[in-house]
Amino acid sequence: MSTPLQDKVAVVTGASHGLGQAVAKHLSDLGAKVVLIARDPARLDETAAALPAERTLVVPCDVSDAAQVQSAAERITAAMGRVDVLINNAGIPAPRTFQDTDFADWDAVIGTNLSGVFYMTRALWDALSANGDGYVITISGTAGLRGGSSPAYGGAKFGLTGLNHAIAAAGKANGIRATILYPGGMDTGWRGAPIGEKPRSESMAPEEVARFIGHLLTSPAEFVVNEAVLNPSAQPFM
Ligand SMILES: NC(=O)c1ccc[n+]([C@@H]2O[C@H](COP(=O)([O-])OP(=O)(O)OC[C@H]3O[C@@H](n4cnc5c(N)ncnc54)[C@H](OP(=O)(O)O)[C@@H]3O)[C@@H](O)[C@H]2O)c1
Repeated sequence: MSTPLQDKVAVVTGASHGLGQAVAKHLSDLGAKVVLIARDPARLDETAAALPAERTLVVPCDVSDAAQVQSAAERITAAMGRVDVLINNAGIPAPRTFQDTDFADWDAVIGTNLSGVFYMTRALWDALSANGDGYVITISGTAGLRGGSSPAYGGAKFGLTGLNHAIAAAGKANGIRATILYPGGMDTGWRGAPIGEKPRSESMAPEEVARFIGHLLTSPAEFVVNEAVLNPSAQPFM
């Protein structure tokens, strides 16, 4: 029986934990061939072990390192022959305040949460363009709408809004759709939060957010959801 994403290749960054892991699993369940990207090879292998080996590729890569991203993109296109979907999900938390943020914190957070999205999208652009129906989904957060006290986290997530506009504009010429998601709290253990303690109305299951991403990817190409805010129902909108 054919499945919605059968024969499509989906690259997921930050695929070894949290939302990225849930997305990789869901897209695999929908029939996609998935490419798992993160830094720690052991955690990637654990994630891959739960997926069909013949449809899963593990590519350890630090998305904040342009040279590593370029090599990863070349490896992916050589091994898979095509790329249809890119989920820009990898992200790290940042110090919460201006005073607590030093130059190294800034570089690390901007490098992963903003530059990493540009590097990966740019490096895979030709492959995403090739079939006329590519899709790039970028994970921001509600900090990308209302900022907050963290200069690096808010700066990176606000930057993604501009980057998504540019991806969407460039993609029109060759059928690439682009969506930026602004999720609120997810139950991934972010910042060391205990998993499974809060009610779902306060902390979303990453599997449910992954299902929403699956809906986007399987929606008709005649329209595109440019932006979406996903909040746990008990969380204030802004
Ligand atoms: N959880 C929330 O409440 C929440 C709310 C709003 C937005 N978000 C956003 O949602 C996304 C996913 O968050 P999450 O909670 O699922 O995070 P998570 O559970 O901490 O997982 C982060 C993933 O990203 C990978 N990663 C981190 N730095 C990387 C790098 N430089 N290169 C490649 N991979 C890297 C990690 O693996 P390695 O460490 O092995 O690289 C891991 O697989 C992030 O962009 C985050 O900002 C999260």
